[in-house]
Amino acid sequence: MRERIQNIGLSIRKISEKAGKQDEIVRFDIGQPSFDTPEHVKEAAKKGLENKQGYSPMLGLEELREEIAKEESSKKGLEIDSEEVMVTTGGMGALYSVFSARLETDDKAVFDDPCWGPYKMISEVSENKWTQVQYWDQDRNLRPEAKKEIKEADLLVVNTPGNPTGYVLTEGQAREIAEFADRHDTFLVSDEVYHRLIYDKEHYSPAAYSNNYCIIGSTSKNHAMTGWRAGWVVDKPENIEQYAKVSRASTACPPRISQYAAIEALRNDSHVGEMSEAYRERRDLLVERMEGLGWDFVAPEGAIYAFPEVGEDSWDFCMKMIEEGVAMVPGEPMGPESDQNVRICFGSTTKEEINKAFDILEDELQ
Ligand SMILES: Cc1ncc(COP(=O)(O)O)c(C=O)c1O
Repeated sequence: MRERIQNIGLSIRKISEKAGKQDEIVRFDIGQPSFDTPEHVKEAAKKGLENKQGYSPMLGLEELREEIAKEESSKKGLEIDSEEVMVTTGGMGALYSVFSARLETDDKAVFDDPCWGPYKMISEVSENKWTQVQYWDQDRNLRPEAKKEIKEADLLVVNTPGNPTGYVLTEGQAREIAEFADRHDTFLVSDEVYHRLIYDKEHYSPAAYSNNYCIIGSTSKNHAMTGWRAGWVVDKPENIEQYAKVSRASTACPPRISQYAAIEALRNDSHVGEMSEAYRERRDLLVERMEGLGWDFVAPEGAIYAFPEVGEDSWDFCMKMIEEGVAMVPGEPMGPESDQNVRICFGSTTKEEINKAFDILEDELQ
């Protein structure tokens, strides 16, 4: 067995295993929507079954590529053609194709601190180097330490809205980081899988300010479709051709049935507004309850997560709170600066559950 594979730690599994054994528990640790896939999307998949169920084209069904191109072009400053789209098995499949196709073993990727853990796991599997550094200071300026790492790296990931923080870049930040990466010839991976889940702000794609980028997208969170595994990557056609080789070697083609569902989700998307309104209400309640506890945090502006600082070791805190009936994810595996933070997913819980969990936390901590 390869050493790099053996060394990949799945430490966060400890949380779900422990939480799964408790009868009464609020699951803030599960990173997926509480909503099920909308009925009209499921119906479109059923209708899709009337077609012959052979392999789909390697880059995805043309109808879906066109819908994705429209969706991406609706972002300010972007004009995307369907030839620039490859459909993948989730955003994860897109990231894996990009990393594997682009990075030699000596090449380095840079991630924000904190970041979504699987970026590191993908790097381990595709065998490139990686590093992590906090990108932004409190005034939303790119930190000198980040500039240094980005300059030296071959690829950087920018994730807005962000997992695990819910942080959303302003137009100035999107421009600053994209232009800086371009100047230093560092390829930009703009992970925008939460771009429809945004509260009080506007989404700005860093890709709009870059000449050397790809965009990662997905139906998973925006449309409550995590299990369908329908995502995509946008890049120049000549790069798509290279990513397609990795995709072919790993999955042959994206699942056909999920593509019929994805076409419908993108075409008739009023469900997104309804779900994000519910998330906004949960976010507001969560912010109020975190303030009540006196925790230090940046209010989430997008996605479905908050990342408060809890003032003690994140593992100790999370393991202890599971026993009291609240499951959260420790920040430690998400970055060296985050070992006193915890990730709370408000996408997977109701307002009643948020209140119940914070009543418990208040009893324990005050
Ligand atoms: C930041 C980020 N990027 C990419 C993904 C991958 O999305 P998918 O479920 O479509 O593979 C996720 C999923 O949690 C995510 O949080």
